[in-house]
Amino acid sequence: MEQYDTILLGYPNWWATIPMPVASFLEEYDFSGKTIIPFCSHGGGEFGQSITDISKLAPNSKIGEGLSIHYSGGSSLENDISNWLSANGISEN
Ligand SMILES: Cc1cc2nc3c(=O)[nH]c(=O)nc-3n(C[C@H](O)[C@H](O)[C@H](O)COP(=O)(O)O)c2cc1C
Repeated sequence: MEQYDTILLGYPNWWATIPMPVASFLEEYDFSGKTIIPFCSHGGGEFGQSITDISKLAPNSKIGEGLSIHYSGGSSLENDISNWLSANGISEN
């Protein structure tokens, strides 16, 4: 984990938050000084309280701009991902 500064963290919204294995992953490592960029699929609840919960489990990290996707995202998904990556300063190449 030491070799990574930016972590794209993907998960489904389960019960308005991150699934427990994702919580365990966040507890396992030290994210101090790193940037976590969340993306989640959901059934209508968008991020729920997942961003708050990520911040609590990775207290000294920076949380980048997230992307929430309704189920499998629909026809705008590719475009939404491109916009989200550029909003976070990530090049697709
Ligand atoms: C156990 C469980 C809990 C869920 N809780 C929520 C929820 O609180 N809010 C929400 O918007 N969607 C909820 N969903 C819907 C999932 O977020 C949605 O099915 C998933 O993001 C789409 O990916 P999939 O095709 O792997 O299911 C839940 C799904 C499951 C299985």
